[in-house]
Amino acid sequence: MTGGRTRTGRPTRTGNAESAGAAAAVRVSAPATIGNIACGFDVFGMAVEQPCDAVVARAAPEPGVNIERITGDVGPIPGDPARNSAGAAARAVLEMAGADSAGLALELHKGIPLAGGMGGSASSAVVGAVAADQVIRAGLSRRQLLRCAVAGELAGSGSPAADNVAPALYGGIVLVLPGKTLQVVELPVPDELWVVVVRPHLETRTEDARRVLGEHVPLKAAVTQWANTAAFTAGLYACDWDLISRSIRDVVAEPLRAGRIPGFARAREAAMTRGALGFSISGSGPSVFALCRGRETAEDVAAGIRWAFGETAALDCEAYVSPVNRDGVRVEDVKAEED
Ligand code: HSE
Repeated sequence: MTGGRTRTGRPTRTGNAESAGAAAAVRVSAPATIGNIACGFDVFGMAVEQPCDAVVARAAPEPGVNIERITGDVGPIPGDPARNSAGAAARAVLEMAGADSAGLALELHKGIPLAGGMGGSASSAVVGAVAADQVIRAGLSRRQLLRCAVAGELAGSGSPAADNVAPALYGGIVLVLPGKTLQVVELPVPDELWVVVVRPHLETRTEDARRVLGEHVPLKAAVTQWANTAAFTAGLYACDWDLISRSIRDVVAEPLRAGRIPGFARAREAAMTRGALGFSISGSGPSVFALCRGRETAEDVAAGIRWAFGETAALDCEAYVSPVNRDGVRVEDVKAEED
């Protein structure tokens, strides 16, 4: 049973890291996320129900962070905590809490496919930060945890963007304001909104996908894009499905990235003819996503996208169909669960 399940931001354990001592082990999981949501390059993000990354964290006698084991879709993920997003985020928490003598042992489970554009490094960073905060009872605020997780994301993926980290931590659909303050605005989630994420079996490094974008955006594209970000936000507040649908368009990054995803155009056509509200690249790709109204449409759209990737590009894929994850990171007390 799941004793002690909570959402961060309303921590169940509070206190000073130096005085309160170490807590029992915790298991922390955080969901995959869709960065950009088409029009909001680097500023919109959304959490989905599956897949998730998780960490089990325990207090350890040696000061600092030690990653004892990594399981799941491990790939070339470094075990060095300075270069691993979970480890680097946990270290940032110890530093922010002034807990120089605290020791932390982490077992990381990678449920989110590597280099898939589903925010795997961000979710790992979030679980690392939240687990460290829980074990040493630092009681950091959600904004502080966000800052630590962004440091982890930067160490793990090379990207300082918070559009995956913020929804993995907060859940829901978020707007992250650029700049040092890392302000997050939680946007409304329409009840019938369903999300399809399809990962073709390709890998994309975020750094490479960012390099193709260059530095400049033509004015005409910029006008379209900022109109769409405003329209998407207004559409969510008003639950206006037409406005949501017409605003899920990316004229800035997608045209430069789509050519790296074989079968992309056909996958879009399959999604839209089956009734998707919109379709685009998830984060920096190669995963794609579609937003849909209702489960039945979402399942049909997922089948269509898979078919299109197989037919056009002979690519196998995984599809994930879920409502928006509204909770973000989850914390479970391992001891309570085992009792
Ligand atoms: N917004 C990022 C990008 C995804 O599209 O490059 C990783 O945060």
